[in-house]
Amino acid sequence: MLINNDTIIKDCDALIRRRSADVPLPLSDQDRDILMQMMKYVDDSTVPEIAEEKNLRPAVGISAIQIGIPKKMTAVILKGADGNKVCEYALVNPKIISNSVEQAYLESGEGCLSVVEDHEGYVYRSARVKVKAYDALTDKEVLIKADGYLAIVLQHEIDHFKGILFYDHIDKNDPFRKDPNALVIE
Ligand code: NI
Repeated sequence: MLINNDTIIKDCDALIRRRSADVPLPLSDQDRDILMQMMKYVDDSTVPEIAEEKNLRPAVGISAIQIGIPKKMTAVILKGADGNKVCEYALVNPKIISNSVEQAYLESGEGCLSVVEDHEGYVYRSARVKVKAYDALTDKEVLIKADGYLAIVLQHEIDHFKGILFYDHIDKNDPFRKDPNALVIE
């Protein structure tokens, strides 16, 4: 399977709105292979030379529906400024089991591999989430207690399972509405 900026499903395709199904565990070899290819995409996408050569858009996460597979699988890799991995997860059936009342948003707004056009505005999400999942990298059930950027990324990816895109959350009448109680993530 070739995953690049040409093959990734965009929001003009109705498939991106489709709901994803739970993945049977233990993970089949086929599902594991798909998820590892998604991990590779995300990892390679933030290395400029590889990204250019393979036509990859930089990303911190990708969900299976974005490659046309309606299954609850997400690959997430966060890297530091030095390019080293801060955390990485190959998540199967991730589920938010609790979330903070406190909200947070990325000051620069969100982006998505499936969204080509600019959609400016703040996307308010829970500042903290607890996510339960099966992690195919460690082959264990994990409980991720996320805040900051990771919390935003996980919520963005889990939204993809419901066919929700980040700009669905933007207030159309007041896209840059400031909630003084929300955390700003730079
Ligand atoms: Ni996305």
